[in-house]
Amino acid sequence: MAKVLIWDAPVRVGHWLLVGAFALAWATSESEEWRLMHAVAGGVMIGVILFRLLWGFVGTRHARFASFVRGPQAAFAYVRGLLRGEASQYAGHNAAGGWAILALLALGLMTGASGWLVYQDMGGEWLEEAHELLANGLLAVAALHVAGVVASSLAHRENLVRAMLTGFKSGRPEEAIASARPWAIPLLLVSAAAAAWLLTR
Ligand code: HEM
Repeated sequence: MAKVLIWDAPVRVGHWLLVGAFALAWATSESEEWRLMHAVAGGVMIGVILFRLLWGFVGTRHARFASFVRGPQAAFAYVRGLLRGEASQYAGHNAAGGWAILALLALGLMTGASGWLVYQDMGGEWLEEAHELLANGLLAVAALHVAGVVASSLAHRENLVRAMLTGFKSGRPEEAIASARPWAIPLLLVSAAAAAWLLTR
């Protein structure tokens, strides 16, 4: 199999923006002094996720939800295969990874939304607790996600982190996407900046 273009540019830039924003939000979560920075990071997460949800319908082939959201049976079959050392190879996200991605996007959105309500002084103490619980849930799923990435990288002898940086993965030529669509990056950045600005006013 050759190295072919699988991840378009907005998927890659959006992913690393999400990782950076979550890390920043986590690092600033305990300090009153960094409250605005924390809220900006949460706003960026919401903007990136809203863009990603839209991109899941209009983006390139492997970015579309229809291409990687598969039934629970396929997800369990992939994990069983991984444990036996014979996991099936996917050009895009594998069947188990697809579920982790949905969970990360949903938890990211709920964490951001609850954080915004707290920032607006709405909801009181129970909402603060719910926000913290959601953030801890997101961290747990992210840890599981990274463990899955490492396990799949080892099983398929392919560095999936590098693939999320370059966009190139092993695959058949007919699985490649035609363009990385870099023109959509400004739209992603506008979405992230607009959400950060609107949600911290
Ligand atoms: C340093 C930590 C992380 C690393 C190394 C990492 C790595 C990766 C890799 C390699 C993929 C592609 C998986 C595949 O080949 O199917 C991926 C996908 C994804 N990751 Fe991460 N990840 C990290 C943290 C996170 C965090 C913290 C979040 C969410 C807050 C996240 C959300 C996602 C999402 C949503 C996707 C799907 C990409 C898309 O299709 O748009 N990741 N990650």
